[in-house]
Amino acid sequence: MCELDKKLSAIKVVPVIAINDATKAVKLAQVLMENGLPCAEITFRTSAAVEAIQRIRDAYPDMLIGAGTVLTTHQVDQAIEAGVDFIVSPGFNPTTVKYCQQRNIAIVPGVNNPSLVEQAMEMGLTTLKFFPAEPSGGVGMLKALSAVYPVSFMPTGGVKPSNVKDYLALPNVVACGGTWMIPNNLIDNEQWDELAKLVQEVAGVIQ
Ligand code: 3PG
Repeated sequence: MCELDKKLSAIKVVPVIAINDATKAVKLAQVLMENGLPCAEITFRTSAAVEAIQRIRDAYPDMLIGAGTVLTTHQVDQAIEAGVDFIVSPGFNPTTVKYCQQRNIAIVPGVNNPSLVEQAMEMGLTTLKFFPAEPSGGVGMLKALSAVYPVSFMPTGGVKPSNVKDYLALPNVVACGGTWMIPNNLIDNEQWDELAKLVQEVAGVIQ
């Protein structure tokens, strides 16, 4: 098991966050850290992503931080510069994967079928995002893939409290990702107590 796999499988769920205001990032990280989820995937879907990652990294050097929705090599550079531990992309883009390997940063690219799994394996990858998990066949698809491929998956896309345990029960699932745990409006409105409760609930569900 690689280092990232070990860390992800200890944490079990990766909150996927599209933050609108980087000045709220440290408080968000504090809520995650103090309530049992010491991890965040900050997506490049908002222009606040890079600054948010920098701020979290400065405040919490030990937090596991990923950059999500990374689509270009420029974004890989920005994410590394900001201090991420790993990169996540929604699809399998060999250019991004090669560039991450050159820069020696872990990349978890999205796949949702056997051909993409094989292309990723050919590039030496062993941990893959399964995206979008539910529309792509969910638990049943992952069971079928596990019979054939010695790789781990991080299912994301349609994972929620009602099905997260089914995914985590699969031997080839290292962790689940998703936006359900961190509703954006709670960050925007700085409803930190409500957010803390939600994070505790998620941490409780996965025990
Ligand atoms: C992602 O970026 O990984 C997905 O959009 C998350 O999907 P979800 O909103 O269904 O959790």
